[in-house]
Amino acid sequence: MADFVEVVTVEDLTRRVSELGQQLSDDYADRVPVMIGVLNGCVPFMADLVRAMEIDVAVDFLSLTRFDGSGRVGMALDAGVPLGGRDVILVEDIVDTGLTLVTLRKMLGLHEIASLATVALLDKAPRRIVEVPVEYRGFEVGDEFLIGYGLDWNHSYRNAKSLWAVMDLSVLQSDADAFAPFAYPASV
Ligand code: IMP
Repeated sequence: MADFVEVVTVEDLTRRVSELGQQLSDDYADRVPVMIGVLNGCVPFMADLVRAMEIDVAVDFLSLTRFDGSGRVGMALDAGVPLGGRDVILVEDIVDTGLTLVTLRKMLGLHEIASLATVALLDKAPRRIVEVPVEYRGFEVGDEFLIGYGLDWNHSYRNAKSLWAVMDLSVLQSDADAFAPFAYPASV
């Protein structure tokens, strides 16, 4: 079996992100939502999603610190846009166990916001360990480790244009460059 399998092509990403942008534009037609991207994985998705929207939006980001092992997360950077009374849309690359999203929703709930929804490009539903609403999702995926279009392996490959599943993680563990020919085919 191949070590890396493309699971979402550039064409599928473009089509689905544009559908999500249209749906958000319809649902928030009379409002100016604050789109808050969860760094760093949201970057390509966020950039494409806001440009697929046909309404005005505010854009902000936050980043998380992860406490290895315990699964607890903390918010390292508070959002800069004042959130009181605003409709907030969290933009996530992927919801996996759900722990990150639960923590974020709790923290954002402390601000007196008008509404809160999440748009996640990917939903790894089989790995969920806490129940958490995901109002908008791009694709449901299995439990393979994914890289590309924002998702990384040790801080690499976030700029690969499409999404790939790593079928055997030991390949990357022993050679972090093994995915480069797939991520950057023009350089081969
Ligand atoms: P959760 O708290 O388990 O839902 O974790 C979500 C975060 O884990 C995402 O925002 C990603 O940063 C990371 N993550 C989860 N699955 C993957 C994956 O398959 N590839 C790369 N990063 C992942």
